[in-house]
Amino acid sequence: MLRVLSILVLFPELIYGFLRPSDTMCKFLDTDSTCSVTHGGDLYLQVMANASDHRLELFRGSKKVLIIRRETVKILEEAFRNRTEAFRNNGTIKIQNVQWEDAGKYKVDVYDKDGIHLKKVEVMLEVKANPWPVVVYAGASVGAFLLVVLVSVCIYRKSKAHKQPGAVI
Ligand SMILES: *[C@@H]1O[C@H](CO)[C@@H](O)[C@H](O)[C@H]1NC(C)=O
Ligand SMILES: *[C@@H]1O[C@H](CO)[C@@H](O)[C@H](O)[C@H]1NC(C)=O
Ligand SMILES: *[C@@H]1O[C@H](CO)[C@@H](O)[C@H](O)[C@H]1NC(C)=O
Repeated sequence: MLRVLSILVLFPELIYGFLRPSDTMCKFLDTDSTCSVTHGGDLYLQVMANASDHRLELFRGSKKVLIIRRETVKILEEAFRNRTEAFRNNGTIKIQNVQWEDAGKYKVDVYDKDGIHLKKVEVMLEVKANPWPVVVYAGASVGAFLLVVLVSVCIYRKSKAHKQPGAVI
């Protein structure tokens, strides 16, 4: 009984873990390209192997979104506040909980410690739907339907058995 209860308690968490949008890692060390992220997931955008001595500026379209210098991340666009992190020792920018409106064209300008522009990386960000909820709900509907069919068949057989006493099923 206890075991059943603990499964019931854990179940929502298992489902949540399963439904959680996956995280995406996009590496653009030399090339520009498209990065496709699951809606609600986290994006790790790596633009250099090591940015410890560099300054990075992220643009969304022509708007400067954030500046990463020394240990600080300076946010210029409210939409990116509280969900953006920088890992300078592997040159990665992390954006959490990617939303539909985050889709679009981005650019990262990389400067060395003397302020000399070293390179720019351009990224087309695509946001795609998290497919898991649909899969799970579809699976659950089919399961529920089969259960209803099974129960109906059992009830039907039982009532038949009652009408014909002694009948062998
Ligand atoms: C960011 O977090 C602070 C403190 O938790 C909160 O006051 C602020 O409203 C948040 N900003 C956004 C844009 O979510
Ligand atoms: C990155 O570079 C800094 C300074 O050049 C160095 O101290 C650090 O160990 C490097 N980090 C990695 C992960 O290589
Ligand atoms: C960079 O470092 C962070 C924090 O340690 C880690 O979460 C992330 O996966 C790393 N990114 C890459 C591309 O190695």
